[in-house]
Amino acid sequence: MMSTFPKRRRPGNVVQIKTPGEIEKIRASARLASRTLDHAGKIIKAGMTTRALDKELNDFIKSRGGVSASLGYKGFPGATCVSVNEEVCHGIPGSRVLKDGDLVKIDVTTILNGYFGDTCRTYHVGNVSPAAAGLAKASYDSMMDAIATVRNGSHIGDIGAAIQARAEPQGFSVVRDFVGHGVGLDLHEPPSVYHYGTAGTGLKLKTGMVITIEPMINEGCWEIEVLSDGWTAVTADRKLSAQYEHTLSVTDTGAEILTLSD
Ligand code: MF3
Ligand code: CO
Ligand code: CO
Repeated sequence: MMSTFPKRRRPGNVVQIKTPGEIEKIRASARLASRTLDHAGKIIKAGMTTRALDKELNDFIKSRGGVSASLGYKGFPGATCVSVNEEVCHGIPGSRVLKDGDLVKIDVTTILNGYFGDTCRTYHVGNVSPAAAGLAKASYDSMMDAIATVRNGSHIGDIGAAIQARAEPQGFSVVRDFVGHGVGLDLHEPPSVYHYGTAGTGLKLKTGMVITIEPMINEGCWEIEVLSDGWTAVTADRKLSAQYEHTLSVTDTGAEILTLSD
């Protein structure tokens, strides 16, 4: 049977070095994912259900020739992950109605022409508390600090160390249970990208690797629980959580962020 994917997956534990041509195609998918999040920012509002938000975003992806990689992934029922307040990640879109003050994480993974892009942002619904805004900013800043460590020859441990150095002095904690990952020809490829760690340790990054960095930062403790729906991760103390995620390629001099916003 013909596969819808024109490729040669390269399975196993090897961290792939993507060719410039492959990175070009991953960039196109990543750009679609980030445009989908731009669209989310325009439509998200109090009174809307997370299901309605998810449908709009799935329509947006499809109208541009893409497919959601999340829909049906290991049985996940949504096109996007929508995680509200104490929900850390993998929130299932449903009947929950967004209200003023909610902190909403939307994570979009696209497939375009067989290539994957993966990105997440934290949105404010109306006016959020200063504490919530500070948490969201810490999550964004920690991701950007981590990205700034990346170049040919840097270590995976540099990423986690940078995230901890930004988040923990503010009294926030870094979730341990989920990691960033290689991405591009598949949704989750090696390596695992830890969001905590020690600088100068771990795998050495090489030009042509494509990874995500996606720190989940909690207001209270870092421990999480998974709800009985089998997907939704929530903070163990039910305090707030925030997340940003970029897909990026490693270059000789730094990182190219592939999921840039317009
Ligand atoms: N986008 C998630 C990630 O960053 C994966 C979502 S898989 C799903 O790795 F099934 F929960 F959608
Ligand atoms: Co990811
Ligand atoms: Co994601």
